This record gives sequence, C-alpha cells and structure tokens, in this order.
Amino acid sequence: MGKKLYIETVGCQMNVLDSEMVVASLRHHGYELTGAPRWADAILFNTCSVRQHAEDKVYSALGTLKQLKRQRPDCVIGVLGCMAQKDQRKIFERAPYVDLVVGPGQLHQIPKLIERARRERTRQVAVSLDRTSGSADAIRRSHETFDPLRDPSMRPTPFQAYLRIQIGCDKFCTYCVVPNTRGPEQGRAPGEIVAEARVLADQGCREVTLLGQTVNSYRYVEGEKTTRLSDLLESVAQVDGIERIKFVTNYPLDMTDDLLDAVRELPKCSPYLHVPLQSGSDAVLRRMKRGYTVAQYDEMMQRIGERLPQAAVASDFIVGFCGETEEDFEQTMEAVRRYRFKNSFIFKYSERPGTKAAARIPDDVPYEVKQRRNRELLALQNAISEEDNQRFIGEKVEVLVEGPSKAARQKGASGPQMQLTGRTLCDRIVVFDGNERQIGHFLPVVIYEANAHTLFGEVVTGEYCHDGGAVPLSLP
Ligand code: SAH
Ligand code: SF4
Ligand code: F3S
Repeated sequence: MGKKLYIETVGCQMNVLDSEMVVASLRHHGYELTGAPRWADAILFNTCSVRQHAEDKVYSALGTLKQLKRQRPDCVIGVLGCMAQKDQRKIFERAPYVDLVVGPGQLHQIPKLIERARRERTRQVAVSLDRTSGSADAIRRSHETFDPLRDPSMRPTPFQAYLRIQIGCDKFCTYCVVPNTRGPEQGRAPGEIVAEARVLADQGCREVTLLGQTVNSYRYVEGEKTTRLSDLLESVAQVDGIERIKFVTNYPLDMTDDLLDAVRELPKCSPYLHVPLQSGSDAVLRRMKRGYTVAQYDEMMQRIGERLPQAAVASDFIVGFCGETEEDFEQTMEAVRRYRFKNSFIFKYSERPGTKAAARIPDDVPYEVKQRRNRELLALQNAISEEDNQRFIGEKVEVLVEGPSKAARQKGASGPQMQLTGRTLCDRIVVFDGNERQIGHFLPVVIYEANAHTLFGEVVTGEYCHDGGAVPLSLP
C-alpha cells in the first residue's frame, strides 16, 4: 500500500510552487496525498517567516501533533521552507517531536531525509548556507531550487502554473527576512525556463505566472548576451498552448521601458503590474532602505500611464514601520488616493529577527496604532477598488474559468450547473453561473454587478473565445 503524505502550505507563491515540487518528488517515491494528518506517514509544513503571525500559525499547528507523534512514532513530522531556514535547530526546542527541518534550497533532499528519519529515528536538518558563511558561489549554489519536477495534479488548477525565473533577493529592505531565507538573487537560465514552459503547456497549462521576489530585476548573462524579463516574456509568449503570462512581484526602480513595451506588444502578456510602494513617505522609505523616493515611484507611474493606459497596478504597504508618524501615514493614504491601485495588500509591521531593522531601529509604533492605520488604509483602498470596478458594469471581459466559486464549493456540487469563478487578463476575479465543462476555458462574460473584490457577470452565449470554441457557449 502507498504511503500517505499530508502537507500544509503558508506564505507566498514561491511556497505554493515549492510544495508542488515536494509532492511531485514524494509521489515518485510511492507517496499519495491525504487530507487527514491522523493517518499520514509523513506530515509536512511548508512555512513562511515574513511576519510573526505566519510563524505562530505553524507552531500552533505543530502543537496539535504532539499527541499523534506519541501514538505513532513512525510518522515523520517535517518543517520546510523559510522558517526552517531561519530557525534551523531552534525549531526542535519549541517542538521536540519534529523530525525534519529543511530550508527552501534543500527541498530536493526530502525523500531521502524522510527515509533516514524513519529508519534511524534521528533528527534530520538540511539548510542552506547563511549569507556570510562561505564563498559567494557556494552560498548561491546552496540556495538553488529543483524546479523541473512538475505535477499538474498538485496545482490549484491544472491549467494554471507558477514558473520560477528567479531565486532569492539582494535588495535587503531593512524589515525583510527573505534575503536571508531565500539567499542571493539569481536568475535561472532562459533555456531552462522556456523548456519548463513547454512542459507545462504539454501538461495542459494555459496560464503561467513567472515568479521572482523582484521579478523585473531578472538578468541572465551568457557570454555577450544578457537576457532581461522583457526578452523572456517574448520567448515564453512563443510557446504554443500558453495563452496568458503574468509576472510577480516587481520592484519599482526596475520597471524599465523595455518591459512596459514588451507587455504592450505581447497580447498574451497581462498588464497586471504588482509593484509595491510600501509607504508614501520618503522618510519611511529611507528607513526601509527601499532605494527609491515617492517622486521616483511617481515617475514610474507616469510611464506606466503613458505606455500601458489599461494597466492594473497593485501595491503592498507596511503600516506602523519604525518611527512612522501620523504625517507619514497620511502621506501613504494620499499616495493610495493618487494612484488608485487595483488592490493593495496591507500589513502591520512585524519585527523579524536577523533583519537590519530588528538590530538597529526600534519597533516603536504601538500595536493599536498599527491596527488602526491598517483598518483606515484598507477601508480607503476598498472604497477605491469598489468605485473603479463599477466601470466594468455593462462591459465584456475575457475570463479564464478556474472552477466552482467559493459559494458553490461551500454548498457542495449537485450537477454540472454551478456558480463558477475565474480571472480576467488583469487578474480581476469574476463570478458567474455556468457549467463545469467550461472550467479551464476562456469565456466572454458581461459584467452586471461589482464590489471591491469581485465582478459578477453572465456568460455571453453564442460567442467563442480565442481557444477555438472547444466549449459551446450556449448551454443546453
Ligand atoms: N519580494 C516582494 C515581497 C515579499 S514579502 C517585494 O519586494 O515586493 C511580501 C510583502 O510582505 C512585502 O511586500 C511587504 O509589504 C510585506 N512584508 C515583508 N516583511 C514584512 C515585515 N517584517 N512586517 C510586515 N510586512 C512585511
Ligand atoms: Fe524583501 Fe525587499 Fe527583497 Fe521584497 S525586495 S523580498 S521586500 S528584501
Ligand atoms: Fe514567506 Fe518565504 Fe515567501 S518568508 S513570503 S514564504 S519567500
């Protein structure tokens, strides 16, 4: 009988992708997935360290496994990902029944480590080198990932996939753990990326999202030739079967004209630009060591407006960063009013051990103040998103259908007719009534209602989208 694997994933898209690879490699070793940790032979948590809250969630989930490990000592419990890299052996102090600690650069070792932990009943630790403990080359290699193993059944949908083009980060924003947990920035070879896009297309994937912490800083030098993100977009767009290309996350200073032009010229390429501002105050940006001023961000927004007037720009913000005054925060509110982002991800500053901010700048904004600023900024962004979404009412959009809507999933499926959800080219969520055969296809949908996060629409019957009309749009 096959062995059973239970895996939980928190954190960013990188982690979702890493979990896909881990599951694919364990499948090769005879494991099958289970949704019930009680019966699993291996229980894995793929973790995130970006905020304290993300770590607390994992420790509390681990806490519930103490009893289980006592009853079934053969069950291997593993902590993977960024928290594993950051805390390493310290994880055993808080959760002594953990068998396995594996950083994001060492995930290829998991099948071997699980077997060893079970056979020898010893703790296994595999992490990458710290950023100061080795030659630059050795550090870089220790953070490399093992991307080519792809398993469509592990993706949220088989026709959408993440594709890593860049590992690590070198920006060292003072608040952020990622340069420590994911190591130095390194671009993957363009040949490998395009080959992987072909594999994905052969598996039926129609939309790829290129991933990097600062994806638009991507560079790959081979002899005389430098490949940039704009070149990669062109190459991936030539892969038959791939119909849509997205890329996240962008760094403001690297939003160059060649990239904006590539997005404009390539119809497959999504003009959804997630390019976090983080704060609307120059003083705060300086303390964050983001490397740009509000004026420079403004200049970037002007260029986006000129070259890609239909672009949907999204941002991230940290509220309550060290020393943030009411005036600083008001400048952030002002920036959100000015730029009218499609959406913003808003976070309360969380001090992270090992970062420059933790070492040098006091976390002096009271929690209640962070909470209030978070609420106010979110309310403002939601009001803007809702207002801007109204302009879609009466418009026709093209939707890649992802699956049953949340409401349909909660109700439980009863027959092929159901409420479906999908996304537009600019990453807007659209909900409409349809048929399960439409999942995985592009459909024209006319919008009749909109709120801050969702557009509601009706499928245009009798029309076909560019996927050759594989699905008749007028339903029986
Ligand atoms: N590489 C991406 C983002 C990585 S983390 C980028 O640079 O845009 C995702 C978001 O988490 C960041 O954009 C930031 O807004 C937030 N974040 C990172 N560290 C944080 C911290 N210590 N406290 C609160 N939010 C944080
Ligand atoms: Fe973190 Fe800054 Fe790198 Fe983004 S760019 S991952 S926020 S250090
Ligand atoms: Fe979290 Fe690591 Fe991603 S810290 S945000 S899982 S890179």
